[in-house]
Amino acid sequence: MKTAIVLGGSRGIGKAIADSLKSINCNVIATSKNDLDTSNLENVSSFAEKHKETDILVLNTGGPEPKEFFSVTEDDWKRYHNQLFLGFCTLLQKIKINDNGYVFLISSGVIKEPDSKLIISSAYRSAFSSVFKILSKQFAGKQISCINIAPGPIQTDRTKELIDDVEAFAKTLPMKRLGKPQEIGDFVKSIVKIHKVELLVVQYNNRFYFSRRNPNCDWLKNAIVNPNVTVSFNRQTFSGKAKLVTNILLNKKICQLKYEDEKRANEERVVLEVDCN
Ligand SMILES: NC(=O)c1ccc[n+]([C@@H]2O[C@H](COP(=O)([O-])OP(=O)(O)OC[C@H]3O[C@@H](n4cnc5c(N)ncnc54)[C@H](OP(=O)(O)O)[C@@H]3O)[C@@H](O)[C@H]2O)c1
Repeated sequence: MKTAIVLGGSRGIGKAIADSLKSINCNVIATSKNDLDTSNLENVSSFAEKHKETDILVLNTGGPEPKEFFSVTEDDWKRYHNQLFLGFCTLLQKIKINDNGYVFLISSGVIKEPDSKLIISSAYRSAFSSVFKILSKQFAGKQISCINIAPGPIQTDRTKELIDDVEAFAKTLPMKRLGKPQEIGDFVKSIVKIHKVELLVVQYNNRFYFSRRNPNCDWLKNAIVNPNVTVSFNRQTFSGKAKLVTNILLNKKICQLKYEDEKRANEERVVLEVDCN
């Protein structure tokens, strides 16, 4: 069972993600501001002391109140520097993300299109997105995926705080509606969920082989991008690495082993090898 920590998981986008992860049997710790206030660095450190590792970490927190540049105080900058930037950096330094894990960041569309009323958010979310992008390359070596979700307007308490007439605002949007928190929850779930497919297998030289005439199918493309796969065969489960077979003779051999019918055995196929040794 995968473990997940979802910050800001008591309401809105965070809660939808926490619920989605629970629905695929993840063991979820969903925090509210009372459990972990990301602007309070002592609180952040003591949280990381108690939760030393996880498979999935969702970096999410409350958003700053809207303010134009000349009304932002020094205290505002410091508080949100901690809340939106330093708190997350500290958590990533102190909480171990297990191999093959995920870190999701809930940032904001303002990282691409800064908003003058959300100048604090625009500044610190862009800054943290840079840190996150750099770290993603380090984490990739352990097959840990870092995914920055930068939402547009989503129907939560936050939007009610920011927008006077949500209904009228919705009509100005391309879809004529705001996004739903559940849509982000579903997106996260679809990434974390194990993708299963039933296939005809060929066992040859202690390796598993799968083939397909049309290379443009999801399971094949998925296995090429995410080569760490699990094969369930004869009530046993094996973990292995998938790769395309480039040796023409081996490719032909697998097709012949797979099909008795001569015509099918001689058809051109893409063959995937899974080595579980
Ligand atoms: N909704 C949007 O349209 C939208 C668009 C782009 C980006 N975002 C950003 O996405 C994030 C989540 O948005 P949302 O709409 O889901 O917000 P929300 O409905 O207001 O929920 C905020 C969540 O964060 C928690 N929280 C608040 N202050 C915190 C703090 N200082 N430290 C840790 N947790 C804190 C809240 O806990 P409590 O329940 O204890 O208050 C709650 O669980 C925010 O950063 C927001 O700015 C939202």
